Amino acid sequence: MSTNPLDQKSQAWSQLFSEPMSELVQRYTASVMFDQRLWRVDIQGSLAHAEMLCSQSILSAEDLASIERGMGQITQEIESGQFQWKLELEDVHLNIEARLTQLIGDAGKRLHTGRSRNDQVATDIRLWLRQEIDLIVVLLESLQYALVRVAQDHVHTIMPGFTHLQVAQPVSFAHHLLAYVEMFHRDTQRMQEVKARTNTLPLGAAALAGTSYPLDREAVAKRLGMVDAQGRPQVCQNSLDAVSDRDFAIEFTAAASLVMVHVSRLSEELILWMSQNFGFIQIADRFTTGSSIMPQKKNPDVPELARGKTARVVGHLMGLLTLMKGQPLAYNKDNQEDKEPLFDTVDTLSGTLRIFAQMIGGQKDAQTGVHSGALRVRPQAMEHAAAKGYATATDLADYLVKKGLPFRDAHDTVAKAVKAAMESGVDLSAMSLAQLQGFHPEIQEDVYQVLSLLGSMNARSTLGGTAPVQVQAQVQRHLARLEAAKARDF
Ligand code: ARG
Repeated sequence: MSTNPLDQKSQAWSQLFSEPMSELVQRYTASVMFDQRLWRVDIQGSLAHAEMLCSQSILSAEDLASIERGMGQITQEIESGQFQWKLELEDVHLNIEARLTQLIGDAGKRLHTGRSRNDQVATDIRLWLRQEIDLIVVLLESLQYALVRVAQDHVHTIMPGFTHLQVAQPVSFAHHLLAYVEMFHRDTQRMQEVKARTNTLPLGAAALAGTSYPLDREAVAKRLGMVDAQGRPQVCQNSLDAVSDRDFAIEFTAAASLVMVHVSRLSEELILWMSQNFGFIQIADRFTTGSSIMPQKKNPDVPELARGKTARVVGHLMGLLTLMKGQPLAYNKDNQEDKEPLFDTVDTLSGTLRIFAQMIGGQKDAQTGVHSGALRVRPQAMEHAAAKGYATATDLADYLVKKGLPFRDAHDTVAKAVKAAMESGVDLSAMSLAQLQGFHPEIQEDVYQVLSLLGSMNARSTLGGTAPVQVQAQVQRHLARLEAAKARDF
C-alpha cells in the first residue's frame, strides 16, 4: 500500500468519502490538461513557501533540503518530458505534490502546511501573468519601434488624411503611423500598470480565512519579487479577497482587448491600403497568401486574421467578467475557468504582436545578417489620391479668412469653387487665377502655394500637427524613448 494519499484515485480527502469519484466527474473537474503550463511558477511558489516555513521554524532544515532536492528532480522531469501528468490528480498542484511525496516521503506531505490550493493557484496565476506581461511589453515596444522606423523614412510622404473615409486634408504618412505608436505606447503603460497590481501575493490567505501558523507573508513576497517600485513587499491584505477575486486577470484581458482593437484598426487600414483601389502599400509576399482559383490575388491574410482574432480576445474579456459576476466570497470552483481564456488571450496577443512587428519592420536574416523590409510604400499613389480629393479646400478657406472673410462665408465660397472644379474634373490648383478670382476677387497669385499639398501640410505646425517639422520632432522623441526602453530590457 502506498503511503502517499495523492497516489490513490480517491485522492487526498478520501477518508471522508465512501465511494471513489465518478470517472465522468473526474474528467469534468480536472484542469491538469491546461493548467500544467503553470508548473514552473507552481514550483517557484512552493519553494518560497517552504523556505519561509523553515525560517519560521515550522519546517525543519532537513525537510526543506529534501523539498528542494525533490523539486529539482521534478523540474528536470518536466523539462525533459518524462513527468507523468495524471488526470486523476486533477490539477498541476496535486500532480507536483504527489510526485514530490513519492520522491521524498513525509517531507513532501509537510509542504502544504499553512497553505491551500486556493491561495496557491491565485499565486501561480499572478506569477505567471506578470512574466507574460513583461514579454508583451517588449513585443509592444518592438512593434512601436518598427512603426517609427518606417515613419522616419516618410516624414515628407504625403497621403490623404480621411474623416468618414472621405479625403479630408493631406497628412504625412509618418504622422499617420505615429498615431498608432501613440496608441501602442499607452497600451504599454496600461500593461505596466496592470502588472504592478498583479504582482501582489495571495499566499498566506490559505483556504479563505488565513492560517493559525506564524507565517511571514512579507518574506514570501520579497522572495518572489512581489514588491513595489520602492522594494516594499506587496501582499494581499484580505484573505477572502486574495483567494477569490480575479480582477487582475480581467484588467489584463481588458488591456489586451484594447491592444487588439488598436491592432485591428491598423489591420483594417493595411487591408484597405493594399487593395487595388488604394494601392498605397504592398505587404511583403511572405506575409500574404494566394488564391487557389484566382491566380492574380495576393491576400492580406495576416491583418485579416488579426482583425478576426480581436473578436476572440474581446470575447475572453466578456467571459471573465461574466465568470466573476455571480460568485459569492470566497473561492469557488468556477474560478478554474479563468485559465483557458487568460492563456488564450496571452497567446493570441503575443503571437499577433510578434508577427506585426516583423510584417511592418521587416527582419534580419539570422544567417546572412541582411535586413529585409516588409512594408513597401508607394508615395506617388498616396500623393495622387490626396490631390484627387480636393484635400486643400480647407486651406483655400483659411486663405480667404486671412483676406478678411468670415470663416462661414469663406467655406461657402470654396464649396462653390470645389463644385465647379469637380464638374470640369480638375483639381483646385489646376484652375486659372481668373477662374479662381471668379469665386472671390481677393484671390491672388500666392493662392497656388496654399493649394499645394505640401504647402497645406507645412502649414499645420501646431504641436501634434502633421507639418514635417513637428513630425520629425515626434519621430526623434519616440526613437529616444524606445532606445532607452531597449537598453532597459536587455
Ligand atoms: N484547479 C483549481 C483552480 O484552478 C485549484 C484550486 C482548487 N481549490 C479547491 N478548493 N478545489 O482553481
